[in-house]
Amino acid sequence: MDRMPAKELSPQELGEQKAYAEAFRKLEDRPKTYCIVTYGCQMNERDSETLAGLFVSMGLTEAAGREEADLVIFNTCCVRDNAQRRALGNVTWLKELKKTRPHLLVAVCGCMMQQPGMGEEILRQYPFVDLAFGTVNLHRLPELLYRRVCERRRVIEILQDDRSAIPEELPVLRSSAISAYVTIMYGCNNFCSYCIVPYVRGRERSRDSARVLEEIRGLQKEGIREVMLLGQNVNSYGLDRQGELSFAQLLKAADETGIPRLRFMTSHPKDISEELIGVMAGAKNVCHSLHLPAQHGSDRILKAMNRRYTKQRYLEIVSHLRAAVPDIALSTDLIVGFPGETEADFEETCDLVRTVEFDSAFTFIYSPRIGTPAASMKDQVPAEVSSERIQKLIALQKDITKRRLKSQIGQIQRVLAEGPSRRDPLQVSGKNEYNVTVNFPGDASLVGQFVEIKITDAKESTLTGVRMEKGV
Ligand code: SAH
Ligand code: SF4
Ligand code: F3S
Repeated sequence: MDRMPAKELSPQELGEQKAYAEAFRKLEDRPKTYCIVTYGCQMNERDSETLAGLFVSMGLTEAAGREEADLVIFNTCCVRDNAQRRALGNVTWLKELKKTRPHLLVAVCGCMMQQPGMGEEILRQYPFVDLAFGTVNLHRLPELLYRRVCERRRVIEILQDDRSAIPEELPVLRSSAISAYVTIMYGCNNFCSYCIVPYVRGRERSRDSARVLEEIRGLQKEGIREVMLLGQNVNSYGLDRQGELSFAQLLKAADETGIPRLRFMTSHPKDISEELIGVMAGAKNVCHSLHLPAQHGSDRILKAMNRRYTKQRYLEIVSHLRAAVPDIALSTDLIVGFPGETEADFEETCDLVRTVEFDSAFTFIYSPRIGTPAASMKDQVPAEVSSERIQKLIALQKDITKRRLKSQIGQIQRVLAEGPSRRDPLQVSGKNEYNVTVNFPGDASLVGQFVEIKITDAKESTLTGVRMEKGV
């Protein structure tokens, strides 16, 4: 394995982009407000916080809405066809807006742009797109936007580099004052046969653990109460850096910073270690909740997916986790309609769901992605069959979720209050350690605090409760 740690952005590169940001601020005829539209996973959400930080460094402020912005940027996802179609549909919608607001700038970036041929497609089919770049060169936004505005021509810069530099030291504008994402690694080496992420995000590059820990300490000083460590497969953190901490060691060290709440995602079952389970059991601040994507219950399909574990092995991991952390909440991702999936294979997935009793599951219909091995496999499953199966699976999980939530009625839980409830302004909404939304009567003064809540009722996917006398 390649043990040369990935390079970080050089001071020279950072300096150049800073200079462009400065020069941009001084332009008279330039966009003043931005709007970022984000699709896809937490990785993209975190990238959007960097985009926002860069815009602010260039003198822009956030627009009140999409219609008012001088610049709209779409940070795209291409993990499934519907994610990509939704993004492109919205880009096209702006074409109309541009007719009434000719100065509006439209930009597209993110994973979708890293697909082969996407740059050309934008050039040809989307002439109203002013600026396009990928995940590799996100840090170059100041220069690219400066060029677009000064040279008055479209700027499309898509670079292919599967070991692109780790973006340290970039400005960031966090979207929450309570919880924060901390990316610990970029890319993915797993090449699950259905998945496009390794092609658009490149190889695994771990950040220096000292930097990660420093960032967590900094966030804590700013008042952040909850940190989510991010990576496509956090369990292989550090393997690309000689002498680096393992993920379990990093998690332990992060716990020791004293940040009140720690979560992480995503864990690939093939790499989950006993050491990690031990750290989860012994840590003070690591939530007893784990997202462990199973994807499927049939060994034949798991093999074709290149997941490198069996149903039996997955069940073993679950029992180790539950033995070490009895109250652990488990969530998962499941795919139906993978090529060659028979009724019997699908039944194996249902059996896995019934056996594990996940607290929640994200279910997806398999979507062929160009360039991935599964896209050219025989026996693609007809859409009607997949949609019937997913309905069954959703119904099955819904009952289990309800049961798992009901079992929490009567418990006293520590809830991090996040803001007013969406449905009822007299209620506060927060999360318990199992990552479930809990609503309870209260006011804005509680936001950002941990409160002790007695759970009184369970809805379909949320809990309600009342405050105990004192906070915790
Ligand atoms: N790195 C994470 C997941 C990233 S993508 C992991 O390995 O778990 C998030 C989820 O999207 C995956 O877990 C998978 O369930 C789903 N997914 C990925 N590619 C897909 C495809 N081609 N069709 C349908 N679902 C897909
Ligand atoms: Fe995709 Fe598999 Fe990597 Fe997850 S582990 S991002 S599903 S290739
Ligand atoms: Fe989508 Fe890219 Fe995430 S393809 S799921 S936004 S890594």
